[in-house]
Amino acid sequence: MNNNKQSTPVLTDPFGRRIEYIRLSVTDQCDLRCFYCMPEGYRDFEEPKHWLSFDEIERVIRAFSTLGTRRVRITGGEPLVRKDLPVLINKLNQLDGVEDLSLSTNATRLHKQAQQLSDAGITRINVSLDTLKAERFKQITGGKFDKVMAGLMTAKQAGFKPIKINMVAMQGINDDEIEDMVEFCIEHDFTLRFIETMPMGDTGRQASEHYLDLKQVKQRLSERYELIPGTMPGGGPARYVQIAGSDLRIGFITPISQHFCETCNRVRLSVDGTLYMCLGQEHKFELRPLLRAGISDEELLDVIKHAITLKPEKHEFSSKPQQTVRFMSMTGG
Ligand code: GTP
Ligand code: 5AD
Ligand code: SF4
Repeated sequence: MNNNKQSTPVLTDPFGRRIEYIRLSVTDQCDLRCFYCMPEGYRDFEEPKHWLSFDEIERVIRAFSTLGTRRVRITGGEPLVRKDLPVLINKLNQLDGVEDLSLSTNATRLHKQAQQLSDAGITRINVSLDTLKAERFKQITGGKFDKVMAGLMTAKQAGFKPIKINMVAMQGINDDEIEDMVEFCIEHDFTLRFIETMPMGDTGRQASEHYLDLKQVKQRLSERYELIPGTMPGGGPARYVQIAGSDLRIGFITPISQHFCETCNRVRLSVDGTLYMCLGQEHKFELRPLLRAGISDEELLDVIKHAITLKPEKHEFSSKPQQTVRFMSMTGG
């Protein structure tokens, strides 16, 4: 932990936003094929020789933490596909300045890995889950629902707190399960977040035909439950309410109906060592060639400061839906 916060510099982008959160994608591969994310049969993954090694990742995250980044979220693809992930987590957990080390997963491998992840230093996780129906789960993701459920329950036993469920809410796909998901999360003491479909890549654009404005979901919930203002620790864009008389917090992630770019605090590091400045834009800076050419620690700090100057103001999902060619799995959401 950093006991000297006042003197810690904070990266600030050209729009005055403080960058204190890095989303670290450790692989672009995934063992599911959610139809809104990655095309079926897609195999054009990054070559292993281009993956940042754990030492290279540690070096970059160390540099970010020196510059005031205190939140690190491990993402994918599916991050648990990356071999020996707990070894990396253990390294990151020891970095001064990293106060919040978390993981976003599809839970297929949690059954086997939850305890190791917890031992290595992950205290909280976010899990993608769009449906509670096994057959529908297969249709949406191509995977096995039972495995994910087993993973979730093992994670609960391992003591992660909070566990947040991410549900991409889609008209005609799973919008009939909104109340069921609320009840499920109350029962298991999970936090529930609804996400609007984003036009990322062809898959995301096709899925946007099922776009559901989360205002409608909130309205629907307010007819059944008493919703009161709520808060939840975290670094992301969700806006929360709480159900009166329960501990359940419900978060709304609304990149389309009410974007949150003016409060953006994050950048992304992809598996090949590219810093992406925005989920919905191409602005980027490639760190790998510099790392492999022997850049010094001091130069690395300068390069990161320069990269942050490239951060755009906002995404243009609504005005230019064709613009984002990357699939979500390439930058980890
Ligand atoms: P917390 O720290 O728990 O708040 O995590 P988080 O919400 O930042 O992380 P998570 O990986 O669970 O992200 C949930 C969803 O929010 C994902 O589908 C992301 O694509 C989406 N999301 C996160 N950050 C951004 C962002 O900067 N822009 C947009 N458009 N979507 C984002
Ligand atoms: N729109 C919205 N969310 C998406 N995700 C993947 N693709 C999309 C998309 N096109 C979500 C996953 C997961 C997170 C990492 O990103 O469901 O919760
Ligand atoms: Fe930040 Fe871009 Fe996400 Fe907006 S879309 S919140 S600017 S990363």
